[in-house]
Amino acid sequence: MRILALETSCDETSAAIVEDGTAVFSNVIASSRSAFERSGGVIPEEAARKQVECVVPVIHQALDDAAADLRSIHTLATTRGPGLTGSLLVGTTAARALASLWHKPLIGVHHTLGHLTSTWLECAEEPAFPIITLSASGGHSDMWYRMSHTRGILLGRSRDDAAGEAFDKGAALLGLPYPGGPAIERTGKHGNPAAFPFPLPLHNTDTLDFSFSGLKTALKYTIRDLPHGDSKPVLADLTASYELAICNHLLDRLTRAVAKHPDIQEIHVVGGVSANTRLRTMVQSAFGNRKIRFPVSLAYCTDNAAMIASAAFFLTSELGEDAYAPFLTTASLPLTDVVQRRKEPPI
Ligand code: KG4
Ligand code: ZN
Repeated sequence: MRILALETSCDETSAAIVEDGTAVFSNVIASSRSAFERSGGVIPEEAARKQVECVVPVIHQALDDAAADLRSIHTLATTRGPGLTGSLLVGTTAARALASLWHKPLIGVHHTLGHLTSTWLECAEEPAFPIITLSASGGHSDMWYRMSHTRGILLGRSRDDAAGEAFDKGAALLGLPYPGGPAIERTGKHGNPAAFPFPLPLHNTDTLDFSFSGLKTALKYTIRDLPHGDSKPVLADLTASYELAICNHLLDRLTRAVAKHPDIQEIHVVGGVSANTRLRTMVQSAFGNRKIRFPVSLAYCTDNAAMIASAAFFLTSELGEDAYAPFLTTASLPLTDVVQRRKEPPI
């Protein structure tokens, strides 16, 4: 089954064509990110304006890259939420229009289910369930126990900021551009990660939840206590230490989740933060003897339409007709709806 999917939940406009959930024929991503480098975050109104401009060219490009025409597309898919309302509406409106014009069925996909499925893109080997998936991005940080592609139990979630948000807000405090994750990774590359101590959040609490706001506050006070409150002379060491603190917390949660669920067959790490080299190295060395998967390409870690096409495929294969249920475009969508859609009314 060949699916053309759109993803416009934040500042990206992406269109992709994917066959049977894994074979990526095209994955075009246009980002308005550079417009927000100085603002420290996305300005929703501006992001949506840019998406209105580029959604049609991006769809054309995805069709061209795949050398595909309408007849070869079986189904359309789009992110139905969560995300920025204006941005989501650009993608869902375009997808609804194309579905009606081309007489194709349409599947609405929860953004987080897209991230959870991203490890299947271009992946030859069938996964073995159950799986523990750590999903860490700018909008969420969740720990999942997954019984199948579309069924799972949410084991823990962030009580405050998401991991990517901790990178973004930390970068703003350090005078680095948005998005903070790549900027912090670059700046701290040759720094000493042991130079500044940071706490390990929730370490002594029996939970699989995350909490990042304390790290951000610790960074703020560390900067305040530097001579003249100037982080520039120690920027590499401080960013490396802050990056390590975020990775330590993620790894601490993952270690606890794996220990609590000895039956799992694989460990997956997905979402924008899974692009982080330090995190990848730490996860590999902590669980070297287990089956570990990250998205195979960095383009599948951050927001992209290929993962939405993949999730749509698995919704059809596991839910049948229910996958095509009508949906609303919804800025805040409960996490319980990510993978347990069967008995719920359409959202
Ligand atoms: O998944 P994503 O593209 O969008 C959301 O669903 O939120 O994730 C974006 C987040 C941003 O907060 C960004 O700072 C973070 O992922 N990120 C990274 C890296 N690349 C992107 N964080 C750490 N290291 C990276 N290399
Ligand atoms: Zn995302």
